[in-house]
Amino acid sequence: MEPLLVRHKAAGSMPADGAIGIFDSGVGGLTVLHALLEVLPREDLVYLGDTGRHPYGTKSAETVTRYSIENVEFLAVKGLKLLVVACNSASAVALDALTARYAFPVLGVIEPGARAAVASTRNGRIGVIGTDATIASGAYTRALRALRPTLEIYTRPCPLLVPLAEEGWLDGPVPRGVAETYLATLRKSGIDTLILGCTHYPLLRPLIADVMGPGVTLVDSAEETARAAAALLAERQLARADGTGSTSFFVTDVPDRFVRIGHRFLGARVESAVRVER
Ligand code: DGL
Repeated sequence: MEPLLVRHKAAGSMPADGAIGIFDSGVGGLTVLHALLEVLPREDLVYLGDTGRHPYGTKSAETVTRYSIENVEFLAVKGLKLLVVACNSASAVALDALTARYAFPVLGVIEPGARAAVASTRNGRIGVIGTDATIASGAYTRALRALRPTLEIYTRPCPLLVPLAEEGWLDGPVPRGVAETYLATLRKSGIDTLILGCTHYPLLRPLIADVMGPGVTLVDSAEETARAAAALLAERQLARADGTGSTSFFVTDVPDRFVRIGHRFLGARVESAVRVER
């Protein structure tokens, strides 16, 4: 599908009663939604999972950017006051294109995760794990270096952790063997902070923490992004002062699997999701 050519960038008021749009390649972004619900319970949240075109982590920057624009075209008509790009792979490659295109603020997961990691490190050695697309983009490395140029940064793609998390294989010989293999060089590098740079990795946090050992602090980009979203809304006086928020779910494939496994990522049942054509 061709992205629309209309530019939406135009100055205008962003009312506090607007919604927060969130998109991801599928279910993974529900970890970010969970974190947003914790800190912004009064907001209306509209989530789009691009399940029909998942995964993004194995695709080119060009394709992920095109998908991202198409996703936001759908969300933008809901009247957004903030867009959260929950997907690390999309944040890594499409954030600039989205920021240039839309008038509402656009928040990705990379910058908040990088900030938290810099605040956490004591020895200046930070590790980053993510999908192939995220690691190949160098986005975390750039964000970290922009904050502190002297950092030593060690990165490692861990693509098999995505299907393991989706299948609920969170510990046991197979996930442990995969995690130990992926993390072996990071363990030797002397890092004291590791960024979980993928929506799915918070589910594997206990296993990753165990493999890395007690000397390594894990930074969850989802939690940091939710904090950054709350701070951004407060700063721009866009946060709702009262009321009860709502959450709606949209997907680009039949919703069955999203509804069935969504609870693992959201920490609560996904009651229903509406399929949209992309
Ligand atoms: N949501 C993706 C990310 O955070 C992981 C799944 C995928 O590859 O699409 O990078």
